[in-house]
Amino acid sequence: MPTETVYGLAADATSGVAVAKIFEVKKRPRFNPLIAHVSSLEMARAYGVFDAVSTRLAEHFWPGPLTLVVNKSSGSNIHDLVSAGLDTIAIRCPGGSARQMIEAFGRPLAAPSANLSGKVSATTARHVAIEFAGEDILVLDGGACNVGIESTIARVMDGKIKVLRTGSVTEKQLAEYSGLPVETEETGAEIRAPGMLTSHYAPHSNVIVNCNAALAGAAILDFGNQKISGDYQFQSYRDLSPNGDLREAAVNLYSYLRELDELGRDDICVAAIPMEGLGIAINDRLARAAAPRSRLTDNMAIAPISEKIIDATTSGEGE
Ligand code: TXA
Ligand code: MG
Repeated sequence: MPTETVYGLAADATSGVAVAKIFEVKKRPRFNPLIAHVSSLEMARAYGVFDAVSTRLAEHFWPGPLTLVVNKSSGSNIHDLVSAGLDTIAIRCPGGSARQMIEAFGRPLAAPSANLSGKVSATTARHVAIEFAGEDILVLDGGACNVGIESTIARVMDGKIKVLRTGSVTEKQLAEYSGLPVETEETGAEIRAPGMLTSHYAPHSNVIVNCNAALAGAAILDFGNQKISGDYQFQSYRDLSPNGDLREAAVNLYSYLRELDELGRDDICVAAIPMEGLGIAINDRLARAAAPRSRLTDNMAIAPISEKIIDATTSGEGE
């Protein structure tokens, strides 16, 4: 399903069989907890305990790119696989066609990002169809996602807001609407969002960040028309935002990484991106894409686009 952040691989959050299928299709190596997507705060309250601050944040940012981690409510019938046995649950209300679908369904949908585990997230229906070619899934086409990176994950805890994953809702906004101090968990510190493995969002090419000169033969991912020195070829050069707009850069990030990765070069060299606002989340994802990892052996061939894409924009407001 399309959401404003990235595409999600969705299934009924109350069905163990359906949720298990998500882990199987995504090839998640272990049962890492999923986000339960709801259509309203009212629906969310049936599954999680919302204190005054979490309520205020949900009222302000939902529908939208903020996931709140709250204690599970006692009567919750969300399957234990969704929260991987934790006594907390991550809940988000997405906008657009996803929200309409959940509302019509009447139950939450569990959905991780619609990419194979550890790989680059998908921001178009075509990315999803390529990633899961051959799997028995239906792809709802809602067009390109208009935020482009995953939701901010936050938890109200001990009189503070802890940001477990950075995203387009910034520390500053969270502080403004909660009135509480905000802390972002250090990468590699005690991992509170268990999915925040250091190596993540990894293309097949090596990713090198903060470059001011590209390696020979490398594809180049620029930002703000810095034109870092390198072998320029039209096909192996992308600029996330020639005008230096971080929102535009976030929207293009995963598409451009995928396009450059399809060229099969050894390296993708990325120009420096400012560490401010959305740039913090973009740099976080790039650092994970660049983190050392065991060499990937699966050769992700570009399979024909699945014929199972359904256009969600013709049957509702879409995104
Ligand atoms: O924008 C998004 O959040 C997208 C769209 C589809 O909604 N979803 C997404 O899901 O990014 P996923 O599974 O790729 O990332 C969810 C993250 C994981 O890092 C997971 O460990 C963390 O949320 N998480 C889930 N439940 C949690 C919990 N109870 N406490 C802490 N972290 C949790
Ligand atoms: Mg993911």
